Amino acid sequence: MLDKALSYANENRGRFLAELKEVLTIPSISTDPDHNPDMQQAAEWMASQLRSLGMDNVQIMPTGGHPVVYGEWMGAGKSAPTVMIYGHYDVQPPDPLELWTTPPFEPSVRGENLYARGAADMKGQVLASLKAVESVMRSGTMPVNIKWLIEGEEEIGSDHLDDFIKNHKELLACEFCLNPDAGILGEDLPSITTGLRGLAYFELRVYGPVKDLHSGLFGGTVHNPAQALMELVAGMHDKNGKVTLPGFYDKVRKISKKEHRDFLRLPMNKKSLLEMTGVPALWGEPQFIPSERIGGRPTLEVNGLLSGFTGTGSKTVLPAWAMAKISCRLVPDQTPEETIKQMKKYLKEKAPKDIKWELEYLHGAGPALTSTDNPGVRALSQAMESVWGKRPLFPREGGSIGVVVQLQKHLKADSVLSGFALPDCDAHSPNEKLHLPTFYKGIDTLIHFFYNLK
Ligand code: BES
Ligand code: MN
Repeated sequence: MLDKALSYANENRGRFLAELKEVLTIPSISTDPDHNPDMQQAAEWMASQLRSLGMDNVQIMPTGGHPVVYGEWMGAGKSAPTVMIYGHYDVQPPDPLELWTTPPFEPSVRGENLYARGAADMKGQVLASLKAVESVMRSGTMPVNIKWLIEGEEEIGSDHLDDFIKNHKELLACEFCLNPDAGILGEDLPSITTGLRGLAYFELRVYGPVKDLHSGLFGGTVHNPAQALMELVAGMHDKNGKVTLPGFYDKVRKISKKEHRDFLRLPMNKKSLLEMTGVPALWGEPQFIPSERIGGRPTLEVNGLLSGFTGTGSKTVLPAWAMAKISCRLVPDQTPEETIKQMKKYLKEKAPKDIKWELEYLHGAGPALTSTDNPGVRALSQAMESVWGKRPLFPREGGSIGVVVQLQKHLKADSVLSGFALPDCDAHSPNEKLHLPTFYKGIDTLIHFFYNLK
């Protein structure tokens, strides 16, 4: 059976790739309301895949935001375990567009990679799961029951998924969830992620004069909002790279000696980070190694800044307002709710009286640690050993995936966090790519995984 499924997958690689390219042409950008019709189209595409797999009860279910795609196959019977497979059909915005070699929604294969927004994060991973299930089901029977949860709001914080899961506990009940949204450490470094950071995302707006002013006639008498915003933002770190929001580190768990040894084993080191990012030197809390700073420590980042005149040439102006997008990555036991309070407290204490400010909390996600003592982790670990010939590493990663904490909270279900997107896949960046040999290995791995669950 296993061999039959593996050869089915091998023979159908060309069609799998063609289908992946098809869904990658849909610009399902969840953050931009102009793309709502594309969100619907992507959801329908997923639903039609589930139907052609022979899934039952396939539905596009409304939420307060973008819909959830659900489908199930309960044919393995009551005594067999039920595995949820998670995916998201939304993607991040593709800008800056001019930096793409080929357009983001015109998938293009160059060398061993498929380039498109969403190729790695995570339509490629959803396809790997769909095609592994297809290969198993067309070659015999699936040894476990399957439930699909494919959402459209992961890249904007999975806000409405929380209530959706809470309101559909029975429908979604499962032993554990396979979540292939967490990537793999290297082409030759299979891995199963055991921790993710949380997130709290803000927009901070600073207002000064009622309109843009002549900088010569008013400069020196009116506090420039762009300057005031920069002063506030600059004060959010001290010179050792620590975040200065009051109480920010109060709930942060210490990294134990054992965890430190685990972090030491990970490939996110100085050399690889310098290579991948192109920066002249690394930055951050000096008493922690880079992999700890990514997987085990909280941060604050400026995601974007806007103010004043940014066109070609010059304009002597004192802008009326300035805006920053700021997000904090959180680790256990921080929460987005407490981070909001800390950010407000900082601004109340530090904002000067000569400007007005407004803080909007956009979305967030809790940090998560998952247990490795789980039949899904064992099955996937064995599967990786079969395909890669070596045992996986168990990293804690820096990214966030909202559903993980939501499933723990409402269904008491842990997530088996993995995936086949490489660290240099340029997720959220221009020229996002999926390494096809790793993608095909991923399909094989998931085929092994399902048989290992028997
Ligand atoms: N797939 C990523 C998360 C990820 C990447 C986890 C690499 C582990 C390793 C996911 O799609 C993502 O980017 N999530 C957002 C979530 C946020 C908007 C709440 C993130 O981390 O920025
Ligand atoms: Mn993702």
